[in-house]
Amino acid sequence: MLSRRSFMAGSASVVSATALPRQADALAPAIREFRLVAAPGQSSLVGAAHPETPVWTYNGQTPGPEIRVRQGERVRLLVENRLPEETTVHWHGVRVPNAMDGVPHLTQAPIGVGETFAYEFACEDAGTFWYHPHQRSHAQVGRGLSGPFIVEEREPYPVDRDVTWMLGDWRLLKDASISDDFGAMHDVSHAGRIGNTVTVNGAVMDSFAVRAGERIRLRLVNAANARVFGLIFEGHAPRIVALDGHPVAPHEPEDGRVLLGPAMRIDVVIDMTGKPGSRFKVVDAFYKGLEYRLLDLGYADDSLGSVRTTPIPVLTANPVPEPNLALARRHDVVLGGGMMGMMAGALVHGEVMDARTMMRHGLAWAINGVAATGHVHEPMATLERGSTNILALRNETAWWHPMHLHGHTFRVLSRNGLPTRHREWQDTVLVRPRETVEIAFVADNPGDWMFHCHVLEHQAGGMMGTIRVA
Ligand code: C2O
Ligand code: CU
Repeated sequence: MLSRRSFMAGSASVVSATALPRQADALAPAIREFRLVAAPGQSSLVGAAHPETPVWTYNGQTPGPEIRVRQGERVRLLVENRLPEETTVHWHGVRVPNAMDGVPHLTQAPIGVGETFAYEFACEDAGTFWYHPHQRSHAQVGRGLSGPFIVEEREPYPVDRDVTWMLGDWRLLKDASISDDFGAMHDVSHAGRIGNTVTVNGAVMDSFAVRAGERIRLRLVNAANARVFGLIFEGHAPRIVALDGHPVAPHEPEDGRVLLGPAMRIDVVIDMTGKPGSRFKVVDAFYKGLEYRLLDLGYADDSLGSVRTTPIPVLTANPVPEPNLALARRHDVVLGGGMMGMMAGALVHGEVMDARTMMRHGLAWAINGVAATGHVHEPMATLERGSTNILALRNETAWWHPMHLHGHTFRVLSRNGLPTRHREWQDTVLVRPRETVEIAFVADNPGDWMFHCHVLEHQAGGMMGTIRVA
């Protein structure tokens, strides 16, 4: 029982606990507050000639509102769930404290129907990020839940326009409604749910208006469940300046295609070198034989002046700790499963399960022989806080896998033994069929972190795990 004395002491500490922050407030930077309401809605994805599509939205729109803050700012994001099921929000690529990471059952209880959850964190890295649910992601993202999260550099980047294109991919029926075959086993065991309708910022777009002489920073976000994009800007020379939000030496894309796996972001700078009134195609040429025109760059009749001749500036590096490779610990990570390379079986909840039984349970993939279900499992690795770690990702499958690590940003060191040219920072690395990719990072963010394929059907089909930093 509490004595009166300890009760008094207790209440005194409560008083000071509420009083102290008020003093501190004067010094602490203001918190930017945002409200996101997740709820069903309607959206005109394919234009006025078709019915509206029932979708899931943030604040009534898909994609959700662009959250734009300045590097170093603290944000509080109140997420209210008016969906018919539980949800969470994951701030993809933002290095947040574990409790703010939005993974149901692992970092927080799911946000129940009618409930609100407050996320709060500081935005230490500038760059292009995005947000999406982590609860039944394949269905919730596939119904439209995602939005851009932009952290501006402290010093403005010298371009005429800063534009975001959220690339979406939908599987629509004839009446423009979303096919509800989420988690179909064929999608799970092959390339994931590839849709039939690609949108830019939530609508099929015929043309994007530009002006001759403009220098545009275009932030590309692949918010599709499974589609990989390989964008060609006909008649233009885009220069890649950031990958997954982090600066990279400006360079033209390899083979002219801007290659963007699910969840990846690429910032390109494009000088609008065309003539007033002209049009140029932007083509997605990733899947052989299935190339299509995404949209046109449509030049206005007037011009902004002559094209800039100044070189494309390098963005300022983010404060990501540099891996110490001399002392790195190495971990082999084998990606297995899928059609045309099916495993004999895998460990499911610690028990050996044959491939056929796995398929009956919706599982087709494994990491190091373990097919994961749900979000909580034995960590596949426990990393000492502050240590440098190399993950050697060996893809033994016939499929592409955009592998995403939460809570950290890693350097991509090599592909099939050859050092990468840019040693790029990424949070999601696209691993080609049969390829081995080495990534390295400092495990500086304590907690249990998801590591999974961002083809959301592969994730649901077992290709995930957790990495513990302790
Ligand atoms: Cu984009 Cu585990 O998430
Ligand atoms: Cu995958």
